[in-house]
Amino acid sequence: REDVVILGIETSCDDTAAAVVRGNGEILSQVVSSQADLLARYGGVAPKMAEEAHLLAIDKVVQQALDNANLTAHDLSAVAVTIGPGLSLCLRVGVCKARRIAGMHSLPIVGIHHMEAHALVARLTEKDLHFPFLALLISGGHNLLILARDLGHYVQLGTTIDDAIGEAYDKTARWLGLDMKKGGGPALEELARQGDADSIKFSIPMRQHKDCNFSYAGLKTQVRLAIESRKICIENTPISSANPDDRSSRADIAASFQRVAVLHLEDRCERAIEWALKIEPSIKCLVVSGGVASNQYVRKRLNHVVNNSGLRLVCPPPSLCTDNGVMVAWTGIEHFLVGRFDPPPLANEPEDYL
Ligand code: KG4
Ligand code: ZN
Repeated sequence: REDVVILGIETSCDDTAAAVVRGNGEILSQVVSSQADLLARYGGVAPKMAEEAHLLAIDKVVQQALDNANLTAHDLSAVAVTIGPGLSLCLRVGVCKARRIAGMHSLPIVGIHHMEAHALVARLTEKDLHFPFLALLISGGHNLLILARDLGHYVQLGTTIDDAIGEAYDKTARWLGLDMKKGGGPALEELARQGDADSIKFSIPMRQHKDCNFSYAGLKTQVRLAIESRKICIENTPISSANPDDRSSRADIAASFQRVAVLHLEDRCERAIEWALKIEPSIKCLVVSGGVASNQYVRKRLNHVVNNSGLRLVCPPPSLCTDNGVMVAWTGIEHFLVGRFDPPPLANEPEDYL
């Protein structure tokens, strides 16, 4: 396994990321170039703009990953790259880069599903995490509860019927006038620490639906209404220029939102654990991964749920929860080791091949 070395490339959304990982799980390098500044300025991900930012960053990010690992592309066993889900213009930048390198050095390519990578990176950080396990994947675009029975064998227990939790964090943060350069989620988590989580009684989504699906659109609307009824001059007044009363009112909204957003996760996880244990009684762990899993409050609350069910919570460190190249390289290794990869592309295939 140590002989296997894989470069992972990730460009599915707003981060350009690359990493080099060894077959035994040793991380040789990890580079992320974030578009947070761009997003803060333009109020969200615009695909064309994100594509341009990826195009500007990709060569440097990949070269940096190889340099930091003290390797050249020649030393690699394969190149792994995210092929979906994500913004197609953005995915394309990563895939073209991967195919160029692989073509030049006759390396196999491993195409990676972004959400599988979020789940499997937990097996890099937790060496005794064996299949089957349960995974809650929470990010900007997805909310998934899956039962991972084996490599490549996943049963979906729940998904979102509208928005993902990360999207709700980002919108709420924007409406509360938070500094989006840090990312909406982290900024909201910080503000929520100063607020009273019981001050506003938002209703918990989908309590009457006895399934494992998620919904965050209704909670977003409730937040919007709460902000409007308090006449906080959102967006135009950044929180840095809010007076103390206004500031504490925003903190209360943030804390109340976070409490209910996470209660919804707790509900769904409790049920999913019950379901999963019926299908696979040998399950020992719930993996929680994806950008929102870097939130400390989320981790603490889910830890309770999991412990009450006699399972163990496995959360990768925050830098491996948010989008990164390591998870792609690692998932590439898992597939490569069982022979799931594509042959090297032609050395000079046309760029419009895709
Ligand atoms: O997995 P990820 O990096 O990208 C996607 O695949 O979408 O997740 C990004 C999402 C964003 O919505 C971001 O606001 C959220 O994860 N996020 C957080 C935190 N850190 C990142 N949400 C809540 N609390 C955090 N600390
Ligand atoms: Zn992600």
